[in-house]
Amino acid sequence: MPKVAPSILAADFTRLKDEIESVKNADYLHFDVMDGMFVENISFGFPVLQAVRKVTDMTLDVHLMVQSPARYIERFAKAGGDIITFHSEAETEENTKNAIADLHSFGKKAGLSIKPNTPADAILPYIDTLDLILVMTVEPGYGGQGFISDMLEKVACLRNIIDNRNLKCEIEVDGGINLETAKKCVKAGANVLVAGEDIFGTTDRAAHISKLQSL
Ligand code: DX5
Ligand code: ZN
Repeated sequence: MPKVAPSILAADFTRLKDEIESVKNADYLHFDVMDGMFVENISFGFPVLQAVRKVTDMTLDVHLMVQSPARYIERFAKAGGDIITFHSEAETEENTKNAIADLHSFGKKAGLSIKPNTPADAILPYIDTLDLILVMTVEPGYGGQGFISDMLEKVACLRNIIDNRNLKCEIEVDGGINLETAKKCVKAGANVLVAGEDIFGTTDRAAHISKLQSL
C-alpha cells in the first residue's frame, strides 16, 4: 500500500488551514519550495512552513527546488520539516554528503531528488544514507503538468538497487500523478505518491486519498 503526499502547491492559499484539514488522512504533506533560480517559478518558504507546522501534526515532506540547498538545510529543519529533500543537480557531492549527515543530526529524514534528465546513477554515491529518493515525473517548477512515462524505468531501476541491498529508502514520485499514473508507478516500485491537482481538484479528497493508498 503506497503512502500519499498531497502537494499544497495546488491548495487554495486563502484557506490553507482548512485545505490541510481536508487531506489529513494522507501520510505526508508535500511542501514545494521554489526559488526562481533552480526552477523558474517562486512558491513559498520559511514563514509559510512555520505556519503550516503550527496547524498540523502531519509529517511535513519538504521538497526544495532551490540552488545550493545545503545553506538552507538547518533553517528548513528548524522551521518544522520532517523529511527534507533537495536536488542532486543543485549541490556539489561534498555538500550533498554533509547536508544528509546534518539532516540526520537534527533528527530529520533526508531525501535526494533527480529531475527527469538526470540518470538514476546520480543517486548511487548517497543511496546507503538516504531515507527517500524523489524521482521527478515532470520537469520541476509547476503543478498540473503531464506525467513523463519514461520515468517508470528509472523507478524500477532504483527499486531493484534498494531491494538488492536491503535498504529502507523510500521511492517517491512527483508530478502528473493521478489514479492511472499512480498505478504504474506503484507497479514499478514507488511507495510514496505526491499529488497536487489530482487531490486538491477533487471535492471528496479523503475518499480520493484512500483510493490512492489502496493501489
Ligand atoms: C512540481 C512540484 C510538484 C507539484 C505536483 O515541481 O514538485 O510537487 O505540486 O503537482 P501535480 O500533482 O499537480 O503535477
Ligand atoms: Zn514536489
